[in-house]
Amino acid sequence: MTSHLIRLHPSGRSFLARDDENILAAAARHSVWLPASCKSGRCGSCSAKLISGEISDPAYDGRANSVRLCVTTARSDVVVDVEELDERPVKPNKRFPATVVNVEAVPDGQSNLRLRLPRAALGNLSDGQSMKITAPVSLAELPLIVSGREGNIVTVEASGDHPGASVDAMSSIASVVGAVIQIEILACLSEIQ
Ligand code: FES
Repeated sequence: MTSHLIRLHPSGRSFLARDDENILAAAARHSVWLPASCKSGRCGSCSAKLISGEISDPAYDGRANSVRLCVTTARSDVVVDVEELDERPVKPNKRFPATVVNVEAVPDGQSNLRLRLPRAALGNLSDGQSMKITAPVSLAELPLIVSGREGNIVTVEASGDHPGASVDAMSSIASVVGAVIQIEILACLSEIQ
């Protein structure tokens, strides 16, 4: 595997990018934060000006010198003109309604909660991701971890940091099976650069 040196202008920051990763991902791997949004070559928010070097970007035509760092791989040492962000970008948490399907006892004395989520919420979830219930207030702030998913039914368990509090909360939730509650999905690392 080959790596190339990427240097940012005007900051002068540099980092190595492997030939199997895009420059945006390589920057994040080195805790260098750059503007980005879709990370799939569609929005243009990661555009940078190529000052020197060889790259592969399917849309690069060599005239505007504009490359999309989320889909660009370095083929030599490269210098690009792009403004660094001061800090790691964090996406806002997202709130959705969820229907309580059931609460299942599991062998370790804890309980699993199954929720039916709207389609819009499913694209924001992955195993191990954190969420919390925000309403009704009686259940609010219960921290949950996604542990499984089948179709639009998501299984969550109480975060291991709060096992005691979760027992009471889960039995409260069991009394509202069929009801719609509000959840907040916390931005996960994979959504952040
Ligand atoms: S982040 Fe959208 S094109 Fe790169």
